[in-house]
Amino acid sequence: MGIASKRPRAWDLTGDRCNVGMMEKNEIPLMPLGRASSVPTIVVILGATGDLSRKKLIPSLFDLYIRKHLPEGFRIIGFSRGMLSDEDFRNFMHKSIDAQSVDHKQRDMDDFLGHAFYLQGDFDDLNAYGKLSGSFLAADKDFGRCSNKLLYLAVPPKYYESIFQNLASAYLSSPCSDETGWTRVLVEKPFGRDIDTARSLDRMLGHLFREEQIFRIDHYLARETLQNILTFRFSNTIFEPVWNNKYIEKIEIRLLEKIGVEMRGAFYEDIGALRDVGQNHLLQMLAIITMDHPGPLGVDSIRRERAKIISSLIPPPVNAIKDSVVRGQYIGFTGEKDVHADSATETYFRIKAYLDNDRWRGVPFYLESGKALKEKKTEIAVYFKEIEPCFCPGSHKERRHQNIFTFKIQPDEGISIRFWARQPGLGEEIETRDFAFNYGEGSKLRTDAYERVLYDCIQGDQTLFVSTDEVTAAWEYITSILNNWVRTELHKYQKGSGGPEVSLE
Ligand code: BG6
Repeated sequence: MGIASKRPRAWDLTGDRCNVGMMEKNEIPLMPLGRASSVPTIVVILGATGDLSRKKLIPSLFDLYIRKHLPEGFRIIGFSRGMLSDEDFRNFMHKSIDAQSVDHKQRDMDDFLGHAFYLQGDFDDLNAYGKLSGSFLAADKDFGRCSNKLLYLAVPPKYYESIFQNLASAYLSSPCSDETGWTRVLVEKPFGRDIDTARSLDRMLGHLFREEQIFRIDHYLARETLQNILTFRFSNTIFEPVWNNKYIEKIEIRLLEKIGVEMRGAFYEDIGALRDVGQNHLLQMLAIITMDHPGPLGVDSIRRERAKIISSLIPPPVNAIKDSVVRGQYIGFTGEKDVHADSATETYFRIKAYLDNDRWRGVPFYLESGKALKEKKTEIAVYFKEIEPCFCPGSHKERRHQNIFTFKIQPDEGISIRFWARQPGLGEEIETRDFAFNYGEGSKLRTDAYERVLYDCIQGDQTLFVSTDEVTAAWEYITSILNNWVRTELHKYQKGSGGPEVSLE
């Protein structure tokens, strides 16, 4: 497991505040992260002036810097097509950080920006990688040793292939020394666009890099609330015995968004909702809520259990696909910037999925996501079967007496459990009560998903990154839907609604 095994994993830890009804427990602080590495590290952001870099990577790097979680010697190289000077790039970084309101002192900002440099180049131009190699040599001369190189691909997937090839041709895919310094590559999803392209990309990556150099990102895995689900399930005795098809009726996993495609029309038109968030975020949430106990904590055991779940998904029956999936598109999508007027790309999907294993056989999983809906909400709701016969007054015969566990991922973060309780008084009425665990606002120790991604990559810990087996299994399932769901209607829905009104029950 390398360096990372010496550090406690996030799921050894408890949230910073626990509210059970009116009762409050003492704060249990999260473990602070340590200094990432003593070896100087160069972070290259390919696509440095893009949305992801501006909104997430630059503010996260700054936050890691002020919390002293970056190596002492570090450099950021922004690599993009735009004609910018170092000064322009630093101004861009400054604005990006200000826009995210990261709390800081001016001196920290000046120091941080002093570590940043800009390199103009086209991603498919080999000469640009020659210039990058020159920047590495100059930096390593300043550091007095072969430094670590972290190459972050914050670019649309269509550039991946030529970037990988060019990095290899410019001898940038392997470390500059066998003794010190590593070279790692961080790749954003979607990793391919179906099972065939994912396999060929994976083959190429496998040819150019070793698996321990490849960090495939799904930022949902790095979310604190997602990590806490494993702690909740496996560190408490009372949940695992009922976490199966004997007690659970169904599980709903949803990632609902209020925003439309905004400025990402071209990307989204090509990708659609199922590839954008279904193949990755939704399937990873499914894996975390259903996977078996991984045994001793370790990168391989956790990734193996996630992969096992995803590969046990049963492809929907081709002839009855409309009973298993709903696809939708919000009215107005075809008028968005860079979207074709006759686009048939989905902005919404709902899938009824089943797993082929003893624990979950027969339990339906509803996976739902959409843009331009009435609310922003990511959560997993676990519905338990009812007790027969119902221990309730006669007037309740028509009501469903279920326990519901809800794992709230955003915007609220926490866990709530719906119980039935007797109403005080002379009658026999029963009513629902929620026990709630809230992560609480603003603990200084909370870590943003992208900070975690960058930090863990520098540490060399791949636990929260997707393995090649997970990617392949996820694409196998998603491709079985993509290939067949054109037979189903593309339902139009109003912006600000709950999505298409089509039932899959
Ligand atoms: C990204 C998708 O991976 O996840 C976006 O590309 C989506 O389309 C986003 O909006 C949702 O992530 P979050 O963290 O805002 O829930």
